Amino acid sequence: MAIWKLVLFCMFVIVGTNNVLVDGANDDRKVYIIYMGSLPKETYSLQSHHVNMLQEVVGDDFATNLLVTSYKRSFNGFAAKLTAKEVENIREMKGVISVFESKKLELHTTRSWDFLGLQEKVKESSPIESDMIIGVFDSGIWPESDSFSDEGFGPPPKKWRGTCAGGDYFNCNNKIIGARYYRKHKKDSARDVAGHGTHTASTAAGNNVKGASYYGIGEGIARGGVPSARIAVYKVCARKCSDAAVLGAFDDAIADGVDIITISLGSNALSRFTDDPIAIGSFHAMEKGILTVNSGGNNGPLKRSTVSLAPWLFTVAASSTDRRIVDKISLGNGVILTGQSVNSFTPNGTKVPLVIGEHVSKPNCTGPLAAACYMNCLDPKQVKGKIVLCTSPIALETGLQSGAYGTIMQYSQNLSVVVPQPSTILDTQSYALALAYATSTTNPQAEILKSETISDNHPPFIADFSSRGPNAIIPEIMKPDITAPGVEILAAYPPVASPSGIEGDTRSSKYTFQSGTSMACPHVAAIAAYVKSFHPDWSPAAIKSSIMTTSTPMKGSDDKEYAYGSGLINPRRAINPGLVFDLYFNYPALAIHVKPMQPFVVNFTRTVTNVGIANSTYKASVLPSSNLNITVVPQVMSFKSLNEKQSFVVNVVGGNFPNNTVPSSALEWTDGTYTVRCPIVVDVSQ
Ligand SMILES: *[C@@H]1O[C@H](CO)[C@@H](O)[C@H](O)[C@H]1NC(C)=O
Ligand SMILES: *[C@@H]1O[C@H](CO)[C@@H](O)[C@H](O)[C@H]1NC(C)=O
Ligand SMILES: *[C@@H]1O[C@H](CO)[C@@H](O)[C@H](O)[C@H]1NC(C)=O
Ligand SMILES: *[C@@H]1O[C@H](CO)[C@@H](O)[C@H](O)[C@H]1NC(C)=O
Ligand SMILES: *[C@@H]1O[C@H](CO)[C@@H](O)[C@H](O)[C@H]1NC(C)=O
Ligand SMILES: *[C@@H]1O[C@H](CO)[C@@H](O)[C@H](O)[C@H]1NC(C)=O
Ligand SMILES: *[C@@H]1O[C@H](CO)[C@@H](O)[C@H](O)[C@H]1NC(C)=O
Repeated sequence: MAIWKLVLFCMFVIVGTNNVLVDGANDDRKVYIIYMGSLPKETYSLQSHHVNMLQEVVGDDFATNLLVTSYKRSFNGFAAKLTAKEVENIREMKGVISVFESKKLELHTTRSWDFLGLQEKVKESSPIESDMIIGVFDSGIWPESDSFSDEGFGPPPKKWRGTCAGGDYFNCNNKIIGARYYRKHKKDSARDVAGHGTHTASTAAGNNVKGASYYGIGEGIARGGVPSARIAVYKVCARKCSDAAVLGAFDDAIADGVDIITISLGSNALSRFTDDPIAIGSFHAMEKGILTVNSGGNNGPLKRSTVSLAPWLFTVAASSTDRRIVDKISLGNGVILTGQSVNSFTPNGTKVPLVIGEHVSKPNCTGPLAAACYMNCLDPKQVKGKIVLCTSPIALETGLQSGAYGTIMQYSQNLSVVVPQPSTILDTQSYALALAYATSTTNPQAEILKSETISDNHPPFIADFSSRGPNAIIPEIMKPDITAPGVEILAAYPPVASPSGIEGDTRSSKYTFQSGTSMACPHVAAIAAYVKSFHPDWSPAAIKSSIMTTSTPMKGSDDKEYAYGSGLINPRRAINPGLVFDLYFNYPALAIHVKPMQPFVVNFTRTVTNVGIANSTYKASVLPSSNLNITVVPQVMSFKSLNEKQSFVVNVVGGNFPNNTVPSSALEWTDGTYTVRCPIVVDVSQ
């Protein structure tokens, strides 16, 4: 496919020759990243080369002061404070591939492993699981958490070339074998005070910890997917993360020798791969055999909302598990409603007065703002000791801050979040019932019970918030790639962080629940490490293929594969995929874009490598599809040896599909032992 060559071309080719000398204007300077591709063959000092380049555009005097970071361990580039004029000049210099402003990135804010079939008892462990090193790019880590104790761990694997540079009061151990942070100018360290990084790291590789729970909710063994693996921490975020820090972490992690990178953050805006730090960094990681797993984002259910689009990234969507957390509200009239929240508060048996937000607002707040209990609207005198009915989940914050006893809110997402005071969230119907009750009587009262876990027999559903495809840059590359649990995930947390993430919530818990593609991402990173521990010589593409083709098919979203990718990860099957699609130009999913009401014919060519049984015969079958005619040539592939490669062509013929539909099907190769499933998905849009 020509598009591949174009992408690679952009990553490698050196453009521009003119050097232009100007003096440093004193405009507002911003941090820009100057990306210059792979490391040069010659081993001269890159940092002094970067300073020389800066001197040419800003003048000798302050070049070193303006250099923010030199990327010189794994790829070539630097970050510097520049004016718009200087940026134009540096863009023209020899070797420069792209120049872009260092933007802010956002964090994509456990029983899940049992649900995925990786029960502790039945789990087959590779003897070299403890050699696996997962690089976690996040908000740091709480090293003293039980999830990261190094009891029973030997010294770091010999291949490890990293270091413990976590800053003051940060000690590594044989579990957390490395730590770095990227805001050297402030008093910082690799310690996590936000919570996000501790949560994601423990989901990927936390130890087995018995009796973990959030105030008794969800009590059980908390554990990561590969509890014997090691963690290398790269703190790229405080409250926000920056492009310059993310690139710095890639530069280090690749050279340090991590096996897998997990990165639960991203931009809210689309950019070209050469201007995208995650695409650039993960490309160089792939060249060194390191797979980068990235959360798809929480901007769903809007179409084309994922910006994690590079073919060499493993992009993860979020789905539910078979455990949900709910709570009950008992109204004064005897009606019991079911709400969604993670509510740790146990009532004392006496019902509390219930008021409507609109009726207890300050005079300057009226209408929808008052009904929502908007910022600074609730009147503290009128809400004290009462439960307030509010139409928006903004009341999670404003209820606490106004001194109310609790809140009952209305919301449409199917999600329970941790609440900072007795609170719950009702769907539209139940909220209307509560509101009608509160209006119908002179002394309305209610009681919100502590949350309980329930088991959900429905098939897992893709979260509303999970960012959707198709791929806005390369439609032929299906995105997201895969889904993993990302709804109501219990994992480790710093005792100093607010468990609800809400300011003013001063409680402390060593484990808490969070939801997001951020929580799904480390599940996939763990499985990637798990697969690699059985097949240390497999390429990043082969590992990714094995996880995609063995996943469990999902249903229940109109966006189909553009919501959940190939399906739900299936760890136990992923270690034995039978066949793999190696190299990214040979994607384990067949996706195309077509215009509405236009018949089309398309041929996909793919090559698979036999990693199953030497002497094996695979037969093709296509999932019945009422509206796509799909033929596969050949129908049968016979392999005589391991690592043998064979190619096939999939011919897809489609008719007149209406705008915004997603016809899809799947091809399966089966040899009686292994099933290799590859989705076929069509984006019909303008
Ligand atoms: C129960 O809790 C409510 C709300 O905090 C309080 O007003 C009430 O006095 C408590 N009742 C008892 C018996 O402790
Ligand atoms: C209402 O007044 C309060 C000050 O009492 C202020 O903080 C708040 O922003 C105002 N709200 C609106 C919607 O104007
Ligand atoms: C919401 O979650 C419940 C429990 O998991 C499930 O039964 C229901 O189908 C979900 N509803 C939607 C709209 O996804
Ligand atoms: C597509 O594949 C079919 C079956 O292998 C072949 O007959 C046809 O010529 C191919 N078409 C194109 C455009 O390559
Ligand atoms: C390969 O499998 C075929 C069919 O099962 C069998 O006839 C043949 O003997 C096998 N060859 C080897 C070398 O095992
Ligand atoms: C698919 O094949 C059937 C049977 O040969 C044919 O009737 C139908 O028109 C085909 N559909 C398309 C879209 O080509
Ligand atoms: C298809 O839908 C999009 C919005 O989703 C709309 O902008 C476009 O005009 C539609 N095109 C046709 C041909 O109906």
